[in-house]
Amino acid sequence: MIRECKTSDKSLIFEIINDAATVYKGVIPTDRYHEPYMPMDELEKEIADGISFFCYEENSILIGVMGFQDKGEVSLIRHAYVRTQHQNAGIGQQLLNFLKEKTEKPILIGTWADANWAIRFYRKNGFAPVNKKEKNKLLKKYWNIPLKQIETSIVLADSKWRGENLKERP
Ligand SMILES: CC(C)(COP(=O)(O)OP(=O)(O)OC[C@H]1O[C@@H](n2cnc3c(N)ncnc32)[C@H](O)[C@@H]1OP(=O)(O)O)[C@@H](O)C(=O)NCCC(=O)NCCS
Repeated sequence: MIRECKTSDKSLIFEIINDAATVYKGVIPTDRYHEPYMPMDELEKEIADGISFFCYEENSILIGVMGFQDKGEVSLIRHAYVRTQHQNAGIGQQLLNFLKEKTEKPILIGTWADANWAIRFYRKNGFAPVNKKEKNKLLKKYWNIPLKQIETSIVLADSKWRGENLKERP
């Protein structure tokens, strides 16, 4: 079952994010990796900044979370995490499909450039990376992340965003 997370789910969201994020160790820049990857105060700040978390629950246990943030003309998918033991079993896809249904707006997703598994996951679900110039512009406009993270991140856009913003070559 997928539902919007409640305030009382906060410690489980924290647990899931920080369990799933251990995969970043040795992959993303060392100065950006720490444990917990997302401290509680950062998670609270993200929620206060308007990220709504949705969770995948099975037998009353939270297994995956995905954040959704409205940014006016676009929607962002933020912080997608499935417990390590449950990855690659279709849960991420179900969460993503659920969030896609929530908006008519174009959807953008940011992730680490070196997180090949995540890029594969998003590509499989209809998203494609935008070029470097565009991604720098988008990360500065819609995200609030340090410059170093902008350099080492990519942005993937859905077909609606690409259709509206990228001119097809004749
Ligand atoms: C990325 C993530 C949310 C996807 O959720 P999921 O439930 O594992 O994904 P699904 O089972 O729905 O989709 C599986 C697809 O995702 C990719 N994928 C997911 N986990 C993978 C893994 N451990 N190794 C390789 N590919 C993986 C593959 O493309 C796979 O499809 P394929 O096997 O046909 O190539 C989840 O794997 C995760 O939490 N990863 C660690 C944290 C992370 O990278 N989050 C993204 C932050 S933006």
